[in-house]
Amino acid sequence: MTFHSGLPAVDRYLDHGFHDVRGMSSRFAAAICARLLAIQSEAGISGGAAEIGTFEGRFFIALAKAMRKGEPLLGIDSFDWPDDGIMGRFLANAALHGLSNDGFETLKIDSRTLKPDDILARTNGPLRFIHVDGEHTDDHLSRDIKLAHDVTAERGLIVLDDMLHPGYPTLILTVQTFLDANSDMRVVAIIDREDIVAAPKFVLCRTEMVPFYDAALREAFPQATWPMTADFRTYQALVLTPNPILAKID
Ligand SMILES: C[S@@+](CC[C@H](N)C(=O)[O-])C[C@H]1O[C@@H](n2cnc3c(N)ncnc32)[C@H](O)[C@@H]1O
Repeated sequence: MTFHSGLPAVDRYLDHGFHDVRGMSSRFAAAICARLLAIQSEAGISGGAAEIGTFEGRFFIALAKAMRKGEPLLGIDSFDWPDDGIMGRFLANAALHGLSNDGFETLKIDSRTLKPDDILARTNGPLRFIHVDGEHTDDHLSRDIKLAHDVTAERGLIVLDDMLHPGYPTLILTVQTFLDANSDMRVVAIIDREDIVAAPKFVLCRTEMVPFYDAALREAFPQATWPMTADFRTYQALVLTPNPILAKID
């Protein structure tokens, strides 16, 4: 089954272009994240958004198309991997898919050196959405999550990429350490993988916002809602998966 966000501009991009932009985020996750931005907009949750690790812009373009006009959008990347042409390819992809130069800002920097104010000054205040998809080490991710937490609005969302990826099995320990230290935050949903490259994402929000986002996602994606939930020991989180089957036991 193919999933859509319900936002025409995003869905046109998902159907025609998303897979032509080199990158790692899954189409499924992009549809769900764009829907989350629409859910926020419909609830009057506005503000800026950012991505740490834009690469060539695959996810960033979907994010841009899901934002409301005039909302600040920031793309952060060291823009040096796999080569120095990456910034040019990112900007070319953004232009090809209709993003105007004044609709977003790029920051070529090692995310570990960023202070919250470096982001907040560019986004006119706290973010409603941040996608964390930079380097996958404990050192990088622990700093990137802390930064994301510091710049995210009370009703905002932090989305972490490549969770439970077989290539990075210990990243979840970094996330759990963050969750243990920040009891105001929870994983509200796991967006399951499409394949080993297009890996799962965790969606985090403030604890008091869990019922809101949980209900909205269940309503928006009933055909992707897994009948079971993710066990985080003290609470359960929604699991969205492209094929929500259960093991046959009879
Ligand atoms: C997995 S790719 C991101 C994929 C992209 N989000 C997508 O959905 O297609 C990871 C990106 O993180 C960037 N990166 C790695 N370490 C970084 C750092 N310390 N600061 C900023 N960006 C970094 C890399 O340059 C690379 O573009």
